[in-house]
Amino acid sequence: MTPPLLVSMPGNERLTDDLAATLRYELGHLEIRAFPDGETYLRFLTNPKSRSLAIVCTLSQPNEKLLPLIFSAATARELGASKIGLVAPYLAYMRQDRRFKPGEAVTSRQVARLLSDAFDWLVTVDPHLHLHSSLADIYSIPTHVVHAAPLIANWIKANVTDPLIIGPDSESEQWVAAVASDVGAPYSVLEKVRHGDRDVEIRLNDLEQWKGRRPVLVDDIISTGRTMIEAVRLLSSQEWPSPVCVAVHGLFADDADSLLHRLGARVVTTNSVPHATNAIDIGKALATYIATQGGPT
Ligand code: R5P
Repeated sequence: MTPPLLVSMPGNERLTDDLAATLRYELGHLEIRAFPDGETYLRFLTNPKSRSLAIVCTLSQPNEKLLPLIFSAATARELGASKIGLVAPYLAYMRQDRRFKPGEAVTSRQVARLLSDAFDWLVTVDPHLHLHSSLADIYSIPTHVVHAAPLIANWIKANVTDPLIIGPDSESEQWVAAVASDVGAPYSVLEKVRHGDRDVEIRLNDLEQWKGRRPVLVDDIISTGRTMIEAVRLLSSQEWPSPVCVAVHGLFADDADSLLHRLGARVVTTNSVPHATNAIDIGKALATYIATQGGPT
């Protein structure tokens, strides 16, 4: 029987190799390069005809990735692939989930439409679900969400003594509550007001009863890092031990990781976006779902 194919978009080779080894899938190869004018040249070097195929592409810095990704799926379809899945450990654009100001684009919906038209199924890790209650609200294809909370909890159990789990804002409570219950540690959720992309205000709760524990800030995304940076600053102003900042997705715009390190924080992320802070592997959890979709052809 011919195994399904796994194809890596540029930058996703490590996770794709691991998934292929775990699943015993064949690695498919693409040639992708930019023409001198910036347009994309794309060619399948492995024939996907009549084969089930999954394309691995995390969607950090999504604008440069989305068009080549859509071209890959469309080309696989034209070449006769039987089923085309998308493994996008980080799913971009989920935070623009409503028209906050008149005239704004609700890009979560638009990206969902693009990807639903191009693919037959999608698996991702903890998408930012806030105003959309599930991916099914905006995606018309079967989707599956891998939850990183148990993996984060395992990492904390193995690496932090007497943790106090802290969520920097109300949206983080879904992860923080699950992680704290799994770790068997107390948790607290702070209040955040975002005034702008890089302007975040956080109010610290009364955490005195847990003094002596190591603060572990848990959030889904570190983007500009302002949320984590403000929380770390507040904790150090109240003489807490240096915190650990754990995020599912480390995007690190503005060198946010260096800023956090300079403040004395340890920063840990999952490998949903390749980065030096990756310490928590989501590969096995992704593979478990992909196995249900790939099916030998
Ligand atoms: C927002 O609601 C998310 O859960 C994160 O708190 C946010 O995306 C972090 O962004 P930044 O790192 O830019 O403060």
